[in-house]
Amino acid sequence: MKRILTGIQSSGKPHLGNVLGAILPAVELSKKADNECFFFIADLHSLTTIKDAEDRKNNVYSVAAAWLAFGFDTDSNFFYRQSRIPQVCELTWYTSCFMPFSRLSLAHSFKDKADRLEDVNAGLFLYPVLMSSDILLYDAEVVPVGKDQKQHLEITRELARRINHHYKTELFVIPEIKLDEKVMIIPGTDGQKMSKSYNNYIDIFKPKKQLKKDVMKIVTDTKALEDPKDPDTCNVFQLYATVASPEQIEEMAANYRAGNYGYGHAKTALFELLWTKFEKEREQYDYYMNNLDEVDRLLSIGEDRARETAVKVLDRVRKTLGFS
Ligand code: TYM
Repeated sequence: MKRILTGIQSSGKPHLGNVLGAILPAVELSKKADNECFFFIADLHSLTTIKDAEDRKNNVYSVAAAWLAFGFDTDSNFFYRQSRIPQVCELTWYTSCFMPFSRLSLAHSFKDKADRLEDVNAGLFLYPVLMSSDILLYDAEVVPVGKDQKQHLEITRELARRINHHYKTELFVIPEIKLDEKVMIIPGTDGQKMSKSYNNYIDIFKPKKQLKKDVMKIVTDTKALEDPKDPDTCNVFQLYATVASPEQIEEMAANYRAGNYGYGHAKTALFELLWTKFEKEREQYDYYMNNLDEVDRLLSIGEDRARETAVKVLDRVRKTLGFS
């Protein structure tokens, strides 16, 4: 039995990058009978950038509804809000006292946020330590994520090894990083990594008209309709390739190379594919967003179960560190 764990920050509605990079591969893993999955909503992490309480609550529901819409079976797994298992904060204190300051100051995500944001708070700096606690608190063995989270997982592995070495015991499980080549970095509408913070994301749960509008906004070069085009350097094609079948991808690539196929045609094909491919998930997402009591109920059950594991692991940590 493998213990799989991953989380999504409640800093907005999950976008296509989250869906393809994290939700779909994680839910696939959860369908294997010999896996046990801990999938959660990282609402404590969202406080680093979101201070509005109502926004946070809505975002938590959006992330929860997305996990459920993609078929996460909460009966046989663990589904929870990070903040409802506050043991994670206690563990963060312990582990942060083993975390070299210099290592954290080199984290890409911190440097990127420190350059862009006005509010550069200490929570942003400690972000990777809280993330390590999310993983170590549940003895997770495998953590599927997109490439942007790779460094955070390397930090987690180093930290766990450092503490194990210090106490000369296998206190923490060293988690394996699981990256799926095909969906490691889903591009956004401007060609950079799709991200809430770059505002370049595609929200597959939006109503038809709005989804179409967003897809039509994808940035391309200015080649004329009749010109042959290079699919490998086109953002629309790259996005299409992340969701289309091999035959559909081949057909669109051939259209690009032949000419007389404009970016407008490609965008329409991408929009139609997104609209039809995720129809069931969109309906499910809307269902859960209209039945928040049910979402709350499922989360509370998951939280009671997840807490049992957290309490046991934290007890082990307290004993090892001399706090019991
Ligand atoms: P977050 O919320 O930014 O993203 C959630 C997941 O989606 C992946 N992802 C992408 N994958 C491919 N292409 C993209 N453009 C793209 N954008 C996002 C992310 O890699 C991630 O897997 N710190 C984490 C949340 C977290 C967590 C954890 C994850 C907190 N604790 C413990 C794993 C384990 C975050 O902000 O992800």
